[in-house]
Amino acid sequence: MKLKTFDTFKQYVKDNDSVNRCIVRCDLNLPSSVKDLSRVYAVKDTVDGILNLGMRVILISHYKRPKLEDKFRREFSLSSIVNDVRKVLGMDMQFIESSIFELNPNVIDSKIVLLENLRFYDGETQNNIDFAKILASFGDVYINDAFSVSHREHASVCAITKLLPSFAGFTLENELLWLSKLSQNIDRPYTAIIGGSKVSTKMNILKKVSQIADNLIIAGAMANTFLAARDFKMQSSLLEKDLCNEAIEIINSSKAKIILPTDCVVSANLETPGIQCNLEEIPQGYSCYDIGAKTTKLIQKIISQSRTILWNGAIGAFEYSNFGRATEIVSKEIATQTQCGKLTSIVGGGETIASIGSHKKDMSFVSTAGGAFLEFVSGFELPGLRPLIIT
Ligand code: 3PG
Repeated sequence: MKLKTFDTFKQYVKDNDSVNRCIVRCDLNLPSSVKDLSRVYAVKDTVDGILNLGMRVILISHYKRPKLEDKFRREFSLSSIVNDVRKVLGMDMQFIESSIFELNPNVIDSKIVLLENLRFYDGETQNNIDFAKILASFGDVYINDAFSVSHREHASVCAITKLLPSFAGFTLENELLWLSKLSQNIDRPYTAIIGGSKVSTKMNILKKVSQIADNLIIAGAMANTFLAARDFKMQSSLLEKDLCNEAIEIINSSKAKIILPTDCVVSANLETPGIQCNLEEIPQGYSCYDIGAKTTKLIQKIISQSRTILWNGAIGAFEYSNFGRATEIVSKEIATQTQCGKLTSIVGGGETIASIGSHKKDMSFVSTAGGAFLEFVSGFELPGLRPLIIT
């Protein structure tokens, strides 16, 4: 895949004197639970690069998922994070709250502006070309630096590329560089650790990695569905019974060695300290909230023998101190092996990133994306990337 990179953009600007306003699609949809500004830091290099060319920057982003009745409500306004964005970018950015339908693009003269939440306009999620025309009137050229939203067929990601010369920003380019390591010339053994609470949201990635990885470790609450499919009595554990057949199909057709927990940490509730037990011994009324010590040891061993790791999804109820032990041990093992140069570790998904805490800095690559990460790694073509590829 050959991208229209920032260098291609620079050449385009050099060749076209009249180009001086660049629209940058970024992802300022910051998680509300933890203050994580990675997505703001992610766009900084691209913004600086454009400003260095003497151009103006028009930042556009969505924020959360406002419904029709939520339009222009403060809770969904980018005004709530605008000061954080200013601090990270280190410059005085103008935030324009008024509706873009009432705004004359020619009166904007700040070096850098941020427009209000794109999802306040129906045309955005409808990929409406007339709405895209209004957006496009704010710039002469367009950069997508929001890999994390490139799986959405929305006006600011897709329709706008039909109207303006379009290029990829540094973050998008970097995401593709790293995530492509999971599909081409993979350094093996390749181990995928897939966790999280719901199998239903991870079916595609499980199917894909079960065909290309050497080891597939299934953890988190979603492992309960696989274990129930294998006839273990999971008692009160969270599981999706209707997906047991699909779970068995994944196990039977997998080319990767599938690793499921053999022991777990159980409790009657999340507030009470857990007890370690084998799968056959889960007391009635108890739920699995973490993988057990034996399983954790086995995972450590597999990690130490691997050359590439993909990790998506929490492996235990890490938010509760009683059930975060395995997450800490696994994160530490991956971080150590990565720092020794023995491992390439690629981590994605908001929950996973929150779960690895301070080990984040020791991973080879931490994706800023959630849904887009899953779709890309599962082998789907992202509609927002198509226009950025040199054919
Ligand atoms: C994300 O947080 O994954 C992106 O910002 C996309 O958000 P969305 O799932 O609401 O489209």
